[in-house]
Amino acid sequence: MKASAPGKIILFGEHAVVYSRPALAVPVTQVHVDVEVLDSSRPGIWIHAPVIDLHAELASLPSDHPIASVILKLIQLFGISQTPDLEINISSTIPVASGLGSGAAVSVALIRSLSSFLFHPLSDDEINPLVYEIEKLHHGTPSGIDNTVITYNMPVYFIKGQPVETFKTGKPFTIVIGDTGIPALTKESVGDVRLLWLRNTTYFENIFNEIAQISLIARRSIESGKPELLGELMDQNHALLQEMTVSSPELDRLVTAAKNAGALGAKLSGGGRGGNMFALAEQATAESVANALISAGATRTIITEIS
Ligand code: PMV
Repeated sequence: MKASAPGKIILFGEHAVVYSRPALAVPVTQVHVDVEVLDSSRPGIWIHAPVIDLHAELASLPSDHPIASVILKLIQLFGISQTPDLEINISSTIPVASGLGSGAAVSVALIRSLSSFLFHPLSDDEINPLVYEIEKLHHGTPSGIDNTVITYNMPVYFIKGQPVETFKTGKPFTIVIGDTGIPALTKESVGDVRLLWLRNTTYFENIFNEIAQISLIARRSIESGKPELLGELMDQNHALLQEMTVSSPELDRLVTAAKNAGALGAKLSGGGRGGNMFALAEQATAESVANALISAGATRTIITEIS
């Protein structure tokens, strides 16, 4: 039984979204996780995930291992006492710890394929809260945006704890994603922001309010077919993320390089401190923005159209 899940990118509102402000995120289908569950002739549940060099039997993994915990949760949910012998193959083109949602994508694809294999196929509405539980195990206090955009595979305007809202693009636009190649743990940047927020609550609440405004205007610009207005909003959002201390010299270098190459705006995306940034580009300049990102040290670029 095969299933897959896309990557994602947060367009606006990361970090502020943890404090119940709105954020916008879209799936990135150029990168994905693919999972295949097969009957096995050897005893046990064997997991193969070559990208993280994992070839292990379920029982040999700690129960809080990201992949083991998904499998154990499903076995428990379905009340299975006699576990079948299985091979689970996981492959991924989403870089790990880079803000493109690799963890949530593994959970979504694994739940989809394993639940179908076990004759309990789950709907997106059932999968989403399960993935959120797994995200909590590994990220502390996630907002839930990653699991939502990846489970439903559609653009979302996300406010923590509120029903999922999607949005339409009035006119397609092109973004160029650039990877610093530096893995960064979202849990750490989210934890650091929390400490700063506790120390200086009014200051941080004001930043979050400004970001909430940006997300709101960005959504309107996208829906009304004026994506060119996003460039300025991206620059403003990036400056606020810098104030929150979650940018890094490498991210700033890529943002500047994209702008110098003609991008209309650029910002980091996700937890920050490393991982990915993206820039808004005209279709005609996207290629040169991507080249400029590589020259400035990006380890990989993805040009994607949001439509
Ligand atoms: O680093 P990512 O792409 O998983 O995104 C994290 C986004 C944050 O807002 C920083 C945290 C969250 O849980 O929403």
